[in-house]
Amino acid sequence: MNNEYRMNTSFIYRIFYVSLISFFLFSCKTQKPADPLAKGVSQKIDSIMSLMTLDEKIGQMTLFTTDWGSTGPTIREGYQDDIRQGRCGALFNSHTTAFTRQLQEIAVKESRLHIPLIFGYDVIHGYKTIFPMPLAESCSWDLAAIENSASVAADEASAAGLHWTYAPMVDISREPRWGRVMEGAGEDTYLGSLIARARVRGFQGENFDHADKIIACIKHYAGYGAPIAGKDYNTVDMSERVFRDTYLPPYKAGVEAGAMSVMTSFNEYDGIPATANKFLLQTVLRNELGFKGFVVTDYTGINEMVNHGYARDLSHAGELAVNAGVDMDMQGAVFEQYLKNSVEGARVTEKTIDASVRRILEAKFALGLFKDPYRYCNAEREKTVIFSAANLEAARDMARKSIVLLKNEKSTLPLPKKMHSIALVGPLADAKSQMLGAWSGAGDGESCISVKEALTERAAKNGFKLNYVKGCEIEGDVTKGFTNAVMAARNSDVVIAVVGESKEMSGEASARSDLSLPGVQEQMIKELVATGTPVIVVLMNGRPLTIPWIAEHARAILEAWWLGTEAGPAIGDVLFGDYNPSAKLTMTFPRSMGQIPIYYNYKNTGRPYDPNSKWTSKYLDGPNAPLYPFGYGMSYSTFKYDSMQIARTEFSMKDSLLISVKVTNTSEKEGEEIVQLYVRDLVGSVTRPVKELKGFEKIKLPSGQQKIVNFKLTAKDLAFYTADMKFEAEPGKFWIMIGPDSEHLQKREVNLIK
Ligand code: BGC
Repeated sequence: MNNEYRMNTSFIYRIFYVSLISFFLFSCKTQKPADPLAKGVSQKIDSIMSLMTLDEKIGQMTLFTTDWGSTGPTIREGYQDDIRQGRCGALFNSHTTAFTRQLQEIAVKESRLHIPLIFGYDVIHGYKTIFPMPLAESCSWDLAAIENSASVAADEASAAGLHWTYAPMVDISREPRWGRVMEGAGEDTYLGSLIARARVRGFQGENFDHADKIIACIKHYAGYGAPIAGKDYNTVDMSERVFRDTYLPPYKAGVEAGAMSVMTSFNEYDGIPATANKFLLQTVLRNELGFKGFVVTDYTGINEMVNHGYARDLSHAGELAVNAGVDMDMQGAVFEQYLKNSVEGARVTEKTIDASVRRILEAKFALGLFKDPYRYCNAEREKTVIFSAANLEAARDMARKSIVLLKNEKSTLPLPKKMHSIALVGPLADAKSQMLGAWSGAGDGESCISVKEALTERAAKNGFKLNYVKGCEIEGDVTKGFTNAVMAARNSDVVIAVVGESKEMSGEASARSDLSLPGVQEQMIKELVATGTPVIVVLMNGRPLTIPWIAEHARAILEAWWLGTEAGPAIGDVLFGDYNPSAKLTMTFPRSMGQIPIYYNYKNTGRPYDPNSKWTSKYLDGPNAPLYPFGYGMSYSTFKYDSMQIARTEFSMKDSLLISVKVTNTSEKEGEEIVQLYVRDLVGSVTRPVKELKGFEKIKLPSGQQKIVNFKLTAKDLAFYTADMKFEAEPGKFWIMIGPDSEHLQKREVNLIK
């Protein structure tokens, strides 16, 4: 075949396929989007891929940020040209229908193959209507509400042109110094797995038929929540057993819920950066979990492997990543610059590239972008969906459900509707933009309602006087505002002190080595308490804090976290009893920094804690017990637990064990209680934790009423990675424990037989 002939046939062939793609793109706008696995899609992808040059394939594997709200240094400019040349197949930090349409038009009209772009964004707890930060939401233990929160976020994000969120973060963490605990579901694997599933479902829904759902991305795979000493990006070092038992299950739950993408983490696992870790990406993710979607790196994660000391240079880093199973390079431009050369040098096969491109195109098909690349660019929808009354109401409800009542001495809360005066004090009482918390999408502080605004409205309605004094800043040592704060306290019936961290103190790259209240806030609270006026502390923070003095001296404490757009009204609802608090902590609150890491499901050791014996596992200068344990939270109601009932004390691997407990609301108020079930495997082929959450139920009980709460356990629920790394339950004795939190538990012993 002479060259001229070859050129001509290939030209004709291209014209044919370009027309074919145009047909896919523009002929069927009214049809439903394709299921990536549906018949025909695979052939369509084959057709497209047969037209693609190697450069264009690498382009699909390249994700760049635009210069809008990026979370790191923008290392590449001129993204319009990248799109035009087919050098990038996805963008992030570009949102609004106007902007995404403009960029999509370049891809669809000006690039050679007209392949549409995917637009990603960190929609972590809302797009514009901001919901509570994820750790706060997890304290609701309300899976339906959490799913709904993700669903509202997807609704708003999709209405603003977005297809893909970098959420949920499913990293278990026992490390409150780490700033990113605010983004997760706390320290527990079981609850974290259920929440991972709820969030994936909320974002992705059943399908993309109505362009109101977005692709979820479970992150950061894997082990990112366990950095040594709590410093972000730091080394992670854990046994495979700990990884599999504690950290892996939420990723598994996310994959099982259908998450279509996974993000690699910045850290190393067992000495190999996660971004090139074949054990994580191939053995576990693809082969064991059966993940079928695409894997994206975290921001410049490939480039960083040079600093890790794992790659010689960027080209080597790219090869390590793609050969380990990475499909898309976020912002590093390593694939873009070096991958072609690696393929030409036979260090990466074209087969590997094709597999990645196929997965990315499948996602584009699933989103329906080949049928209508603008289906997420509906400006009318954008106007009506964002900040809709229903979304704001859902955000307020989620916010109320996330507030944990930590202390309520002398039933100080709820406040009586008729009061003479309230002193509202503290640097966070009127800090609108702080309510958003870290990772707050396109959230705008001005749209948030502060506590001061919410209480001003109540003051007008209920006829009390609101004496507001800021008192001090979040940080710094200026105390000159104390005088007015103390005066306001003296002249009021009660003080509400809204204190905590700034939102910049949590999130990425925001580790802290001191978790006490920053600045002079605690000093101010001491002066307020000294006035004798009851002080109610409202905490806003992204992580557990060490606040033993406040825990002892404040009359009441509300852990309000960062609650988002509707923070003020939600806090008002709880303060005045329009909502009876029901949340419980999903991370242990330490008493002191020295106790960290501290978590409820520790091991017994050979010398378990005994306050009367020096030679046991403990501190000389303080207790082992946390300030507030996992699972703890109060209500305005009180609940009595009767003795638990277990149908039998012996059960086999094939049986299920039925456990029940009668819970009675012994108060005057209707309230909700989260009834918790824990187990302990007394003897194992490897040691097991002193307790592990295995079930819970959130019940609502009117005053004086009771409910029997039933749990069912099977051998599967008791499985773990045994000495020979089999995931199975071992026969033997177990404690079954039930209670209102991880410390106040009644227990019964049962025997699991073969
Ligand atoms: C974070 C990711 C985030 C990405 C994109 C990174 O720095 O670690 O969680 O999704 O930036 O914004």
